[in-house]
Amino acid sequence: MKILILPDAPSACCAVANRMAALLKARPEAVLGLATGGTMEPVYAALIAQAAKGAFCATGFTSFNLDEYVGLAPDHPQSYHHYMRAHLFAPLGLAASNTHLPRGDAPDLEAEAARYEQAITQAGGIDLQLLGIGANGHIGFNEPSSSLVSRTRVKTLTRKTVEDNRRFFAPGETVPGYALTMGIGTVMDARNIVLLATGAHKAQAVAAMVEGPVSASCPASILQMHAHATVVCDREAAGALRMSEYYETVHPEGAEPALTIGPVV
Ligand code: F6R
Repeated sequence: MKILILPDAPSACCAVANRMAALLKARPEAVLGLATGGTMEPVYAALIAQAAKGAFCATGFTSFNLDEYVGLAPDHPQSYHHYMRAHLFAPLGLAASNTHLPRGDAPDLEAEAARYEQAITQAGGIDLQLLGIGANGHIGFNEPSSSLVSRTRVKTLTRKTVEDNRRFFAPGETVPGYALTMGIGTVMDARNIVLLATGAHKAQAVAAMVEGPVSASCPASILQMHAHATVVCDREAAGALRMSEYYETVHPEGAEPALTIGPVV
């Protein structure tokens, strides 16, 4: 697991956008796994800015989002379909046929989950999965106690997650209590994973993910078992890491220098 600690949230978000842009430059037809939430908004803004400068071709990639609220149609302003169109797909000019999200309003959610898994497989799997982390350690909407080998399915959201998400809804509006989410096993199938965490309110979750035991109590801790997982965080989110000095020695300011070891004398 690579731990990159950046000085602040803007530089952490830029580092993630740069990785995505570099991948899309090298492989314009890459398959990206995407996340929503407040953390991702500046990442998508930075990615759009890079595309506008011609850093990469933004219309060739395919995307699969992690999750969608159960019961919300794609045109609902709080749906993740809407979020992705507003924050990334429309500004990039990406065709709707390149983008995939599970349908939270599907009449048969189990069939929709199976269809979604199959669509990911048919696309050849995910090259780079972008993740945020919940304050309780969730990834996607895999709440603590989720099976570490789960596949796409309906999950009940914890009260804390519902409360955390209330800020995106109008006062008095009902916040959905269920989501259709990629499973932890689905996420782990991605060839590369980048998890971004910013802010002091994520510090305990980040510490549990990186330095705690691998446990369903902190679903993100499963990333310890992934061969190509990178955690990008700002100093605040890294605030509870016991070994931050080591991570900062290996990757000063989040840099990934080529390893050059001189002769041992
Ligand atoms: C949403 C998702 C969630 C969020 C997490 C953090 O697609 O995958 O796991 O990444 O809830 O949300 P924010 O960024 O709003 O703190």
